[in-house]
Amino acid sequence: MSTVLYIKANPKPEGASRTFKISDKFIEAYKEHNPDDTIVTLDLYKEGIAFLSAEGVRMHFVEPGEGRSDPILKYAYQFLDADKYVFAEPLWNLSIPAILKAYIDYISVANITFKYTAEGPVGLCNNKKAVNITSRGGNFSEGELVVWEMGDRYLRIILGYLGITDFTTIAADNLDAREQDAEAIIAGAITRAQAFAKSF
Ligand SMILES: Cc1cc2nc3c(=O)[nH]c(=O)nc-3n(C[C@H](O)[C@H](O)[C@H](O)COP(=O)(O)O)c2cc1C
Repeated sequence: MSTVLYIKANPKPEGASRTFKISDKFIEAYKEHNPDDTIVTLDLYKEGIAFLSAEGVRMHFVEPGEGRSDPILKYAYQFLDADKYVFAEPLWNLSIPAILKAYIDYISVANITFKYTAEGPVGLCNNKKAVNITSRGGNFSEGELVVWEMGDRYLRIILGYLGITDFTTIAADNLDAREQDAEAIIAGAITRAQAFAKSF
């Protein structure tokens, strides 16, 4: 049995996020295939994730196992304890929403999710997998904008840094292009997400 951490980053009211329309369907399908798994939903806005404070920075220098009940470090331990991760966020200004970056600053902690060695940093989140479900106004999956995309790419790299190299992206592109059928694009992404949920 696995624990799945569902990390959501979007301030829109219930039912309004196009990204969550896709990611919620993914979770629904995943539950059908894995009824005994535990899904932990972490809505970063509801959680009130704030930028790292001076105290938060100070707490980033811990000994292994230390600070499990600390209000910041608890997120790093929660992350470490999960087996699978589902990220859901829109592309904002070519990157992830700032609240998701703030969350990454909470969970990327030396001696909890990675460690420094003489050979360089080593991830401690091993044998885990992640899927990033995202939606975008333009098309960043193909063509000249691919190199401008720094949201999904950042998540892929930072998770690799923590030891998670099994990373899949499900993206709905072009949702704000007037001549495109956004509903059809979302429906296509839902179909891909539901299919992927079987093997995740
Ligand atoms: C603050 C903000 C910044 C955005 N920046 C980009 C961007 O850089 N590139 C892009 O293609 N779309 C951008 N968009 C559009 C969203 O990514 C797109 O509409 C997405 O589908 C919204 O998903 P949601 O309904 O889950 O919020 C931006 C939207 C907002 C609100």
